[in-house]
Amino acid sequence: MTHNIETIELEKFKNLDKQEFTAFFNSFSGAKPGYLIGTGQGEDENLAIFNSITHIGARPPLLGFIQRPTTVDRHTYQNILKYKHYSFNLITENFFEKAHQTSARYSKGQNEFKEVGLTAIHKKELRCPFVGESPLHIALELDDDIEIKSNQTRLIIGKVISISIPRTLHNNKYRLDFQELKSMSISGLSDYYKLTKVKSLNYAKPQ
Ligand SMILES: Cc1cc2nc3c(=O)[nH]c(=O)nc-3n(C[C@H](O)[C@H](O)[C@H](O)COP(=O)(O)O)c2cc1C
Repeated sequence: MTHNIETIELEKFKNLDKQEFTAFFNSFSGAKPGYLIGTGQGEDENLAIFNSITHIGARPPLLGFIQRPTTVDRHTYQNILKYKHYSFNLITENFFEKAHQTSARYSKGQNEFKEVGLTAIHKKELRCPFVGESPLHIALELDDDIEIKSNQTRLIIGKVISISIPRTLHNNKYRLDFQELKSMSISGLSDYYKLTKVKSLNYAKPQ
């Protein structure tokens, strides 16, 4: 089956409202799992929502995310440079609206955990907070900070130090089921999706 689809040249989008344009072009990479990034300690403690988390490699385990240009105050980025540790906390159905609220421009002195009503958890020897309501915590250490020349965004790469997952999942051969975790995926900056696992397929070989 093929689709009856229409081609629109980039020129045509020139007159589109700025926010509508951004939201549209933000959405092409699809709905991706939302994470809260926890950073800083004491007065610097900070929490913010990100959905550009991407797998970089498994040996060693590396994860990346895209940071908007740092031409204005970016608390997450500043804390990562200062403390080197940070956490990814999977966003789930139970608290995604609170998670969304962390994207508001809170000032440096305001703590998003308190502002949106989420629980900060601290772990021994890790210089970053975790989200109590999240069932998947990933602790990371800054490994690389790469400027993307095309638009001055940054690819922040972290090495995984430890992960925390529900005990029941340990029995499942370390396979995360994102439907079971009630993970929320986000398209652009506003559209939240639930996940349905369809099937696990075997490693593909040429037939
Ligand atoms: C659904 C959603 C996803 C977002 N993803 C990103 C992202 O991947 N990268 C980014 O730099 N900002 C992203 N943002 C914007 C940040 O959450 C926002 O700039 C926030 O204020 C950053 O806080 P901070 O200054 O405390 O780091 C996203 C916002 C929303 C609502």
